[in-house]
Amino acid sequence: MSEHAGSPAGDNRPIAIFDSGFGGLTVARAVIDLLPAENIVYFGDTARYPYGPRGHHEVRWFAIQITDWMIAAFDPKMIVVACNTATAVALDELAARVSVPVVGVLEPGLRSVLEVSLTDRVGVIGTVGTVASGAYQRAASRLAPRVELTCAACPGFVEFVERGETDSEQVRVLATRLLAPLRDAKVDSLLLGCTHYPFLARTIGDVMGRDVVLVSSADETAFAVDRALEDADIQRDGSSPLAPAAWHRFVSTGDVEVFAELGRRLLGPELDEVRPHSWDGVE
Ligand code: DGL
Repeated sequence: MSEHAGSPAGDNRPIAIFDSGFGGLTVARAVIDLLPAENIVYFGDTARYPYGPRGHHEVRWFAIQITDWMIAAFDPKMIVVACNTATAVALDELAARVSVPVVGVLEPGLRSVLEVSLTDRVGVIGTVGTVASGAYQRAASRLAPRVELTCAACPGFVEFVERGETDSEQVRVLATRLLAPLRDAKVDSLLLGCTHYPFLARTIGDVMGRDVVLVSSADETAFAVDRALEDADIQRDGSSPLAPAAWHRFVSTGDVEVFAELGRRLLGPELDEVRPHSWDGVE
């Protein structure tokens, strides 16, 4: 049994989830729904989004910086990298660096889309950084070498979501242009390989057509979190009458008012207060 499991509710330490901004809220939503007893702290690095166009070295540094800060500030029992770009370039390094389990979004999402495909023509869309990293291509050739994988970067999608513009004519025009290679490749399933993209699912679905199944990595990642908690025996049990209700905390490096307002619209009522964080003076 874990040394932290001494209280009636089991291990009360929170699960720490981070992303460049609002995208990881798709993962946070799925984790809250699947594991309502767990305490959660979410970090949105909105002052430095988007990560997609940045160099791999810089994104890796951001991921390390956030992880180290969250460990020092919240003593989490697990780190969830709710960002494909950071998962693609930093997951292994984070896992080697910290003593708690680290869960990324890339492999859960890929496994899920591979299960859904009937024709083995699978699409993945993500940021420029994710697609250029080759991480999906490598993972697919390892997990399912027979699959014909078409990857496309969708620069601009993240910015629309961060502005709260999830269903405009401009998004539709951009989606029509960027998704053309996936339509040409006749994929039957499409992985939204950026955690921001589920917020654009209606537009992406309209452009791809009814026959293409859209897959978000959020649910599958929540299942991976559940398994990792169980493997490490660090679950929290909210059913005990002595267990206080689970808490959900949010931190943003950007404007906290904006984060609270848009975040609540995207995640739901659990997002009430947002605490600010600044990297000023932090090296
Ligand atoms: N949600 C991040 C991802 O999944 C977006 C990265 C960005 O900020 O460009 O890759």
